[in-house]
Amino acid sequence: MKLKHVLLVLSAALSFNACAQAPIVIKFSHVVATDTPKGQAAERFKQLAEKATNGRVKVEVYPNSQLYKDKEELEALQLGAVQMLAPSLAKFGPLGVKEFEAFDLPYIFPSKTALYNVTEGEIGKSLLKKLESKGITGLAYWDNGFKVMSANKPLRNPADFKGLKMRIQSSKVLDAQMRSLGANPQVLAFSEVYQALQTGVVDGTENPPSNMYTQKMHEVQKYVTVSNHGYLGYAVIVNKKFWDGLPADIRTALDKAMKEATTFEKAIAQRDNDQALEAIKKTGKTEIYTLSVKEQAEWRKAMLPVQQQMESRIGAGLISAINKEAAK
Ligand code: LMR
Repeated sequence: MKLKHVLLVLSAALSFNACAQAPIVIKFSHVVATDTPKGQAAERFKQLAEKATNGRVKVEVYPNSQLYKDKEELEALQLGAVQMLAPSLAKFGPLGVKEFEAFDLPYIFPSKTALYNVTEGEIGKSLLKKLESKGITGLAYWDNGFKVMSANKPLRNPADFKGLKMRIQSSKVLDAQMRSLGANPQVLAFSEVYQALQTGVVDGTENPPSNMYTQKMHEVQKYVTVSNHGYLGYAVIVNKKFWDGLPADIRTALDKAMKEATTFEKAIAQRDNDQALEAIKKTGKTEIYTLSVKEQAEWRKAMLPVQQQMESRIGAGLISAINKEAAK
């Protein structure tokens, strides 16, 4: 065989080998810091997925809005520029799936158990299914926690919110929640919150302690009120075309890795938030105040009407189904 032919066969073999071995890349973009429940779980998923597929899959995690901010990341997922996200459940309204804003309703989840009854049950599954018409497949629910409120003045009574500019996520329910307290809601991307608080573009905000601490929001907020008035959690989602196009054995392995990462994520969420609140306390820069039972009742009275207000947007049936499930 002439040398030319030998070289041709060799290079063909080499390039076949190279492209056959090229790993399937999953770009996993998110907006929070790595040392948060979501940030750590994304890293854990990376380890588990790469191990379970013997390197046939490579997961690239991009935290802290490195690649895309809140709104852009959902567009990027639909376009296939990234393959995986875990946005807050409060950010699906702009996508046209308003029902997810049910998770933002004040005081709808009396406990984490009540929450899991919903996310791990038929309601949770049916909500994820609604994403398919948007070219998105929902894989799991990840947990963060119940929110605290913060500002540069003490927040003890609903009246303390009067006229305050409060940063919220892009949710109409959170908009109504802040208005029910007499505050002015301002939607801002997560990556813009610290600076907006520092410069006074907004006066205050709400988030679980793990986000507040890792974004250093406490450094520009003198007062934090432990109110647990609402919940913040996530849906782990993938581009549907990408997911359906995966080899079956790879998809099975990734599903298993996601289940393990989800168990890990839920196990660390509460601990991380408790530790973050302690860490904020230790800085001595922010006064932490926990509402009394009486004050809690005042907040509840002020915010509960939001559930009825939002029936036309979210659906009275869904709200009562969640209340029923949460009450079990
Ligand atoms: C926020 O925007 O406050 C949160 O949704 C950020 C996050 O992903 O936890």
